[in-house]
Amino acid sequence: IRQVPLFAQLNDAQLEAVTAISTKRSFKAGTVLFSEKEIGSVFYMVLSGSVKIYTTGSTGEEKILSICKAGESFGELSLIDGKPRSASAQTLEDCMLLAITGQSFLDLLRTHFDISLGIMQELSHRLRDTNQQVYDLTFLDARTRVIKSLITMANKHGLRNGSIITIKLVLNFDEISQLASVQKTTLMQVIRDLEEKKILTLSPSDFKLDLAKLRS
Ligand code: CMP
Repeated sequence: IRQVPLFAQLNDAQLEAVTAISTKRSFKAGTVLFSEKEIGSVFYMVLSGSVKIYTTGSTGEEKILSICKAGESFGELSLIDGKPRSASAQTLEDCMLLAITGQSFLDLLRTHFDISLGIMQELSHRLRDTNQQVYDLTFLDARTRVIKSLITMANKHGLRNGSIITIKLVLNFDEISQLASVQKTTLMQVIRDLEEKKILTLSPSDFKLDLAKLRS
């Protein structure tokens, strides 16, 4: 768990204390870990794999708020404010997660200022990210939002080789359109256009994005 940034500052004894109250759990791809509006009882950290955090509209359509990958955490809000889960969480790949129950999590925050600070930094990061999403939805058109989402996925999940970034397709096209807040037809139009311009190459398991061509 040393690789989890939240715990990076802890000494051996403190890490020992965290290990004692946490449980390693593995989950198959596609497992719903919890749903929006449920009572929250567990805080999770991702050791491997990735988890999507999403909210569901009144007719069942989903909006992805964020993707958590190794080293990131989720599920703290309802433990801190005692309210129901603010979003749902589902594994996108087979995952290894570290779980800490609510009371132990709060005790950890009370006893380790560095961990509390780490949670505050994570919440600050998310608020900035949410502000950015509000900006994008208010001021950017759908095509630009798709391109921004592809670049975000590239920066977060891509492997870089010169100006070419290879991004493993852990999200399907429905999910990418939810991430960009566009209709799937719009997403497919933009992807086709980028393919024609040789900026994007699709294969069944990944896609390649030429950042230099995209910027020019
Ligand atoms: P909690 O409300 O307990 O359960 C859902 C979790 O999703 C929440 O805690 C946060 O950890 C996470 N979450 C909620 N909203 C966002 C968001 N806008 N961006 C990233 N993560 C979020």
